[in-house]
Amino acid sequence: MFRLDGKVALVSGAGRGMGFGVAQILARQGATVVINDYYSERAEVATRLLQDEGLRAQAAVVDMTDRSAIFAMVEKLVAEHGAIDVFVHNAGIPAQGWGYSQFMESPPAEWDAWLQLNLHGLMHACQAILPGMMARRWGRIVAINSDASRTATGMGLCAYGAAKAAAIGFIRNLSGEVGRHGITANALSLGTMNNWEGSEQIARKTASVGRAGSPQDVGAAVAYLSSPEAEWINGQVLPVNGGSLVS
Ligand SMILES: NC(=O)c1ccc[n+]([C@@H]2O[C@H](COP(=O)([O-])OP(=O)(O)OC[C@H]3O[C@@H](n4cnc5c(N)ncnc54)[C@H](O)[C@@H]3O)[C@@H](O)[C@H]2O)c1
Repeated sequence: MFRLDGKVALVSGAGRGMGFGVAQILARQGATVVINDYYSERAEVATRLLQDEGLRAQAAVVDMTDRSAIFAMVEKLVAEHGAIDVFVHNAGIPAQGWGYSQFMESPPAEWDAWLQLNLHGLMHACQAILPGMMARRWGRIVAINSDASRTATGMGLCAYGAAKAAAIGFIRNLSGEVGRHGITANALSLGTMNNWEGSEQIARKTASVGRAGSPQDVGAAVAYLSSPEAEWINGQVLPVNGGSLVS
């Protein structure tokens, strides 16, 4: 079950972190994965790591906020592979390394950066990819989201949380338009992940399973939502958070 043999999956921001884990698990499930990243070195290193495992992977270096570059990438991939069956929008933390600020200190440019990547990037990519999925009457879209869209951490996440909430609103509405075309659109709401300093200590206190999440935890959930067996899951937001928020 949950095999992806013969499918082509594009994962944005997959050069490291959660996106790499997603690409790795999708490839292990049989997909050919396209590792998108803003930085060519990250995309190339990640691609080589999967190829060294004997998996099918290729790099695509594109800024996921650049609409025309996204359309060009999709056109090239479809010409090469015939289809993009699965799209995972994982890139969500701006490549230039935007920090978090308390609301009253957060400049409009910071809000723009979060929204450009989390909402507009997802929207551009979906407009590029969906015509092919609709023509083939099969597709899976998964947006990597965050519990920051529904919590009040006080940690300066207003712009980030708002951008993530906007993406969820988009995914839910999109699901209502694409479901009858054989396409599902869902999101994952991630909790505290293990790729930043101090996350293990926080997760030990906040996650009922007692640890931070790994890229492979995210990959497993994406693999399920991308599989043929998940055909009846549409417009949903699946918490992947170790039980830290349960509603
Ligand atoms: N790490 C966490 O604790 C956590 C928690 C909740 C949600 N998330 C979400 O998980 C996703 C991945 O987070 P992560 O921690 O793995 O991030 P990360 O920064 O480790 O990796 C993200 C990758 O995306 C790439 N990227 C950034 N901007 C890009 C762009 N414009 N175009 C293409 N690639 C771009 C980066 O170069 C980087 O390689 C994000 O959507 C994030 O919001 C993470």
